[in-house]
Amino acid sequence: MVVVAILAAGRGTRMKSSLPKVLHTLGGRSLVERVLESVEPLSPSRRMVIVGYQSQEVKAAMQSDSSLEFIEQTVQLGTGHAIQQLLPHLEGYTGDLLVLNGDVPLLRTETLKQLWQTHQEHQNSATILTAQLPDPKGYGRVFCNSENIVQQIVEDKDCTPAQRQNRRINAGVYCFRWQDLAKVLPHLEANNAQKEYYLTDAVTQVGKVMAVDVADYQEILGINDRLQLATAYEILQKRIKEKWMMAGVTLIDPNSITIDDTVELQPDVIIEPQTHLRGNATIGTGCRIGPGSLIENSQVGENVTVQYSVVTDSIVQSGTRIGPYAHLRGHAQVGNNCRIGNFVELKNTQLGDKTNVAHLSYLGDATTGTQVNIGAGTITANYDGVKKHQTKIGDRTKTGSNSVLVAPVTLGDDVYVAAGSTVTEDVPNDSLVIARSRQVVKPGWRKNK
Ligand code: UD1
Ligand code: CA
Repeated sequence: MVVVAILAAGRGTRMKSSLPKVLHTLGGRSLVERVLESVEPLSPSRRMVIVGYQSQEVKAAMQSDSSLEFIEQTVQLGTGHAIQQLLPHLEGYTGDLLVLNGDVPLLRTETLKQLWQTHQEHQNSATILTAQLPDPKGYGRVFCNSENIVQQIVEDKDCTPAQRQNRRINAGVYCFRWQDLAKVLPHLEANNAQKEYYLTDAVTQVGKVMAVDVADYQEILGINDRLQLATAYEILQKRIKEKWMMAGVTLIDPNSITIDDTVELQPDVIIEPQTHLRGNATIGTGCRIGPGSLIENSQVGENVTVQYSVVTDSIVQSGTRIGPYAHLRGHAQVGNNCRIGNFVELKNTQLGDKTNVAHLSYLGDATTGTQVNIGAGTITANYDGVKKHQTKIGDRTKTGSNSVLVAPVTLGDDVYVAAGSTVTEDVPNDSLVIARSRQVVKPGWRKNK
C-alpha cells in the first residue's frame, strides 16, 4: 500500500510570477497535474498535496479532483518541515509513503514503479531516486557505498569543494517505510546553510537507505525558472514526436510542429510544418494537416486535408478538404466529402455530406442537408443584436453569390437562391427565390440628362 505526498508549498520565487509555480502549465497541463498523473497508475490509497504559498489558488485549480487531500504548511521551513505536517494525518499507518516535488513534471511512471519495487524487494527503510548529472549544480549530492547504500546527502550550499565534485544527485523523489520516517521526523534540526528542516536529513536517519539511478536524467529536471520550463517543454515535445513517428506518423520539419500529449494520431497521418495540435484532438489515418494549421479539441476523420486553417472544438468527417484560410469553431460539424474553402468561417454549424462552402462565407448557427452548395459570399445573419437565431437549409439547395440569409429562416430541399438575395422568409422545396430589386436599365440616359 502506498500513500503519495506532493510538496507544493514553496513560492517558486525564481519564476517571477504572480501564479504559484506548480500551477504554471507545460503542454496544456499544470506542473502539479503532471506529477499527479505520473503516480496515478500506482493506485495510491491516499494522495496528499502539501500547500502553503497561495494555497487558495492551488486548491481551487485542483478542486475537480475530489479525492485529493490538501495539507497546509502555513510557514515554509523546509522540505522536512513540510513532511512533518503529515504526522497527524498518517497516525498508525503502516504502509509506504512516496514523496515527490510538485515541480518535477517529466517523471515516467516506469521510473516510480522501479523505485517502489526496489524499495519492497530490499525491505529498505527508504529508497531514493538519484541521477548522474553532467552539471549537478544546485542539487543535493548523494554519497553511497558500492552496494548503493546511501551514506550521506549534502545540499549544494552545504558542500565542501571536494563534495561538490560528486555528480550523483538527489532527484527529490523518495519512497519511505512510513513508520520508520515517522520516528525520526520530530527530531530534525535546522543547523545548515539555509536554516531549514531538510527532508534529506531524515533520509539518512531512518535505517537502510538505497539509491536507484534514473536511466534518463532528463526525467528529473526540476522547474525553478522560465528557462527550465522551456527546456522541459522541448524534452516533452521530443518524447511526443518520437512516439508518433515510431507509430507511423510523418512529421515534416518536426521542430516547427507542436503536439500536446493529449492528442491521438493514427498511422499514415502527415503533419506539415508550422502545425500545432492541442488538447483533445484526434486525427484519422490518411489525413494531411498543415502547413500552418491549428487543430484544438477537435475530431478529424480519415483522409481529411487541412491547409492554413484553424479548427477548434469541432468535428470534421472523412474525405473533407479544409482551407486554405478557413476557421471552424464553436462546435462546427462538417460531414463526409465536404469542401470548406478560402476565407470561410463556420460557427456552431452542421453541414451534411458532400456540401461545399468554397469561398468567403460566414455560417453561424446553421444546419444544412446533404449536397448543398453555398455560393461565394453567402452570409447567415444570425444575430439581431440580442439573440442568436437558426438557419436551416435542405438537401441539394444552392445559394447564389452574395446571398444573405436572415435568421430565423428555413430553406427547403432543392431551393435555388438568386445571387445577391436577402432572404427573410421561409422558402418551400423546389423553389427559386429572388429577393432583390429588379435591375432597371435606362437606355441613352446620359445623353438625355
Ligand atoms: C531539494 C532537495 C535536494 C534535491 C532537490 C531536487 C532538500 C533539502 N533538498 O532541493 O537534495 O537535489 O530538491 O529537485 O529537500 N517545499 C515545501 N515546503 C517547504 C520547502 C519546500 O513544500 O518548506 C516544496 C517546494 O514547493 C518544492 C519542493 O518542496 O516543490 C522542493 O523544494 P526546493 O526548495 O525547491 O528544494 P531544492 O532546493 O530544490
Ligand atoms: Ca527545486
